[in-house]
Amino acid sequence: MTDAAFTPRVFSGIKPSGNLTLGNYLGAIKRWVGMQGPDFETIYCVVDLHAITVWQDPATLADATREVAAGMLASGIDPETSILFNQSQVPAHAELAWIFNCVARVGWMNRMTQFKDKAGKNTEKVSLGLYAYPALMAADILAYHATHVPVGEDQKQHVELTRDIAAKFNHDFKVEFFPLTNPVIEGPATRVMNLRDGTKKMSKSGESDMERINMTDDADTISRKLKKARTDPEPLPDTLDGLKNRPEARNLVDIYAGLAEVTSDAVIAEYAGAGWGRFKPALADLAVEKLGPISSEMSRLMADPAEIDRVLANGADRAEAIAQPILKRTYDIVGLVRSR
Ligand code: AMP
Ligand code: TRP
Repeated sequence: MTDAAFTPRVFSGIKPSGNLTLGNYLGAIKRWVGMQGPDFETIYCVVDLHAITVWQDPATLADATREVAAGMLASGIDPETSILFNQSQVPAHAELAWIFNCVARVGWMNRMTQFKDKAGKNTEKVSLGLYAYPALMAADILAYHATHVPVGEDQKQHVELTRDIAAKFNHDFKVEFFPLTNPVIEGPATRVMNLRDGTKKMSKSGESDMERINMTDDADTISRKLKKARTDPEPLPDTLDGLKNRPEARNLVDIYAGLAEVTSDAVIAEYAGAGWGRFKPALADLAVEKLGPISSEMSRLMADPAEIDRVLANGADRAEAIAQPILKRTYDIVGLVRSR
């Protein structure tokens, strides 16, 4: 079976482990919205089982799960066109992950840079789940035979591991059952950086709230954070090459490009020679114009958690209808007896 034998299907997920950031929006959600349409079936997941690889307060986890769903809906994920659900409502993810734990090799897991970064020197004390997490991610993707996975740059290695797991499974069991999934890492903002340190990724958790834009920030906060973002004294150059070794400046140009839906080259062409006194207010206005309506819509949706739960329940039913037959077929291939 070639890749062409698989239905073009998109799967991606976000952990409910803190505030959604501009990085999640530009690196993931905004691009997921754009993939909805006739070319793909689209499946988007709030990956709560991934979140608990590090400690989550149970009450906060439930709120964060609904908030991520609200962020996706407010950004334009249409729950009729796409399947939107939270991972733990479809047990096939955890079940297939176990099979993949038995396919993936310890040596492969040891190469995962995100684990090394997250565990730091503390490898003895972190959860076993944090270490095994990429096998669960492979299960998320392959339980749907997903062919395309739009993610930020930081997830590339995990999607490559997913391909390795699919290839080893197919080889070991002499089948062509799982597709070799393609990572889709495109556009100017696949790695949005910290506003205070352009060498670090913008992330949900971090010492200072000034480092990131949260999708729930109001207009004044967005504007203040961008105007106070760290930069250097130089004006913007004529070409993108001129931003080499200027990570903070490059980041703001890429954020502008992501929000305006143009290339970073086009931004430089427009603002060549501009100082920060001109560029930052333009960026702040653009961010407020694009993100303001999303944050208001998120608050509106969050006021009715029962409605979000209904969306997630409906999505979980539709997701399960795809994943369950694939899981059963996997069990058959592996030789696990199913007598009922
Ligand atoms: P996470 O918040 O770690 O669950 O990430 C969810 C999605 O957002 C993944 O596709 C990430 O690659 C993407 N993402 C998270 N942070 C950033 C960032 N700073 N820049 C670009 N994409 C990001
Ligand atoms: N591991 C991803 C992250 O930390 C989230 C994720 C879980 C995911 N399962 C996935 C992304 C499947 C794409 C496909 O960002």
